[in-house]
Amino acid sequence: MSTILVTGGAGYIGSHTVLELLTAGHRVVVVDNLDNSSLESIRRVEALTGKRVDVHLLDLLDRTGLDLIFAKYRIDAVIHFAGLKAVGESTQQPLRYYHNNLTSTLHLLEAMKLAGCKTLVFSSSATVYGDPERLPIIEDQALRTTNPYGATKLWIEGITADLAKAESGWNLVMLRYFNPVGAHESGRIGEDPAGIPNNLMPFIMQVAVGRREVLSVYGNDWPTPDGTGVRDYIHVVDLAQGHVAAIDKALGGALPGWTAINLGTGNGQSVLDMVKGASKAVGRELPYRFSPRRPGDIAACYCDPAKAQRLLGWKANLGVDRMCADHWRWQKNNPQGYAQE
Ligand code: UD1
Repeated sequence: MSTILVTGGAGYIGSHTVLELLTAGHRVVVVDNLDNSSLESIRRVEALTGKRVDVHLLDLLDRTGLDLIFAKYRIDAVIHFAGLKAVGESTQQPLRYYHNNLTSTLHLLEAMKLAGCKTLVFSSSATVYGDPERLPIIEDQALRTTNPYGATKLWIEGITADLAKAESGWNLVMLRYFNPVGAHESGRIGEDPAGIPNNLMPFIMQVAVGRREVLSVYGNDWPTPDGTGVRDYIHVVDLAQGHVAAIDKALGGALPGWTAINLGTGNGQSVLDMVKGASKAVGRELPYRFSPRRPGDIAACYCDPAKAQRLLGWKANLGVDRMCADHWRWQKNNPQGYAQE
């Protein structure tokens, strides 16, 4: 049994990963500043697993507070989710994004180094491929970003790569997620975005539950089979299990130095495919209308997941029907997210 520090553990992907870590027998310590998340998610994870999580309300900009966490526990490895993640907002508030995401990660790496904890799994993103030069995307293809949020992911990848070059003993794993959707099958935890959702699936589900009127489909003139954008949607439970696999391999010494790994299904789904899947799960046709392309969007993005299979022994198992059914169960049972309780 290892002790894993999870930053941002109360968030969407964080809470699902905490659940899978507990189920796999790990002990979990969460630090979160609750900027865009709720403690209720952790309370529910505890209820679902029958296990306890130590939660510390802490902002990673507080370096002293972070050192106290490493002094209190013998942390074997860290999973770093905490960070600001809204693309549009990042273009309006670049300094806030760079300061928060980069400084917090530097603090974390410094605190880890001081404590002698050298195993980190980082929440990176397919956004580091920008408009991909070819499909399916493999890990060693060109990296580029188009907005400050994406740039913080790319910079953190670069900082950690430099660290692995300079010092021995680190196990630094960058997990590049494609498009996480869905929820735990219990319907007790799920995605709870603040304000108007930026991402497709939460928007569709808020239409389904009556919080929004109609989905705007951003463009039907993309060079894709049905003209709408194509993405590699991955069930958040598959994604969470990918983190457990990465932690176990890294702690076992199988991922020395610095490694970047795509976590996706390898399948591309269009916006209309997802609307269809969601309508099936909800049991009625969900309304949508075509609107102009969203600035900064790309036509298609999906990965080659072979490296994850090879290095982690992991692959995604759950398809679009499960993604939609599970996301809908969560949204139906919690129309206002965690706020209702
Ligand atoms: C977006 C971010 C990406 C980030 C990821 C996190 C942008 C440009 N990219 O990816 O950097 O890592 O979220 O999950 O914001 N769509 C609609 N109507 C909507 C919302 C989305 O048609 O109301 C379409 C989009 O045009 C796209 C697809 O649905 O084709 C997926 O969009 P979204 O869920 O926002 O994810 P990405 O754009 O892939």
